[in-house]
Amino acid sequence: MSQPQRPVSRLGFGVSGAHGTPLVRRTDTIALIEQAASQGITVFDTAPAYGNGEAERRLGSALKRLDRDRLHVMTKAGLTSHGLVGRRRDFSPDAIEASVRASLTRLGVDGVDTLFLHGPDPAELTPDLFGRLDDLHRAGAFGVLGVAGRGGELDAALASGRFAAVMAPVHPFIDSDEAARLRTASRRGLKVFAIETAGDSPARRSPPRSAADLYKLARSLRSGPPGRGRTGALEGLTAACGRGWVDCVLTTTTRPVHLAQAVAIAKRL
Ligand SMILES: NC(=O)c1ccc[n+]([C@@H]2O[C@H](COP(=O)([O-])OP(=O)(O)OC[C@H]3O[C@@H](n4cnc5c(N)ncnc54)[C@H](OP(=O)(O)O)[C@@H]3O)[C@@H](O)[C@H]2O)c1
Repeated sequence: MSQPQRPVSRLGFGVSGAHGTPLVRRTDTIALIEQAASQGITVFDTAPAYGNGEAERRLGSALKRLDRDRLHVMTKAGLTSHGLVGRRRDFSPDAIEASVRASLTRLGVDGVDTLFLHGPDPAELTPDLFGRLDDLHRAGAFGVLGVAGRGGELDAALASGRFAAVMAPVHPFIDSDEAARLRTASRRGLKVFAIETAGDSPARRSPPRSAADLYKLARSLRSGPPGRGRTGALEGLTAACGRGWVDCVLTTTTRPVHLAQAVAIAKRL
């Protein structure tokens, strides 16, 4: 499969989380996307699972005001969401095609630059699915195919040779196998997109200072595995940007000042 055409900046902005909820105003999401683009970010990542399509709609609104040809737009397929806990997965060819078509409508684009399969199990990577993805690629629905996942669940996808990009956690607590997997992918020419750069333990709870913080609070109240650790947001970004095999570090925020700090880190390294 061909390599991504549009530029991949060192830092990418994720339109996710609270940006898919009424806790953040649409206009505030759009203003942050515009700020990101004006500060040199070309990569914008979203997914139908973020706010049941609302995050994609917001990115689509922002794209109308920006130069689409300079931006690397990414979305995902295979997972949909309904509220904070209701997630449904479907990697059947029909579901993936329907998902991609709906995403393009919400984003208001003919095609995205990178389409990620959103955490597929090895058994879901069927020849029928790849055949349908080839059709969608030929029709211009996406430029290159990526896989988003964690640890060993990525192995089957990476061994298939069908993916040109991988999205995975890159934080100070990943083990040597996780780092080696991504380093190898990079050597083989895949683009590596880093997520969850501060760690995989829940963030420390603090009193909400904005409506958007209620989203963080709600997430922190969900029970889940304790994770391996967490560092500060800026320390995590700095460490991920410093890894030579990472092409793009994804971050998200609801605060313009945090976005400016992340941009400054990415420019410095
Ligand atoms: N499986 C997947 O496909 C998957 C999973 C996770 C993420 N992603 C992608 O990766 C993107 C990034 O997500 P992430 O989970 O890795 O998020 P992240 O950027 O590591 O963390 C986001 C959180 O950190 C806070 N934050 C950001 N900058 C900060 C700063 N300078 N100081 C203090 N707090 C700060 C934000 O809150 P404030 O609003 O207060 O700044 C937000 O709650 C997502 O948007 C998405 O596109 C994909």
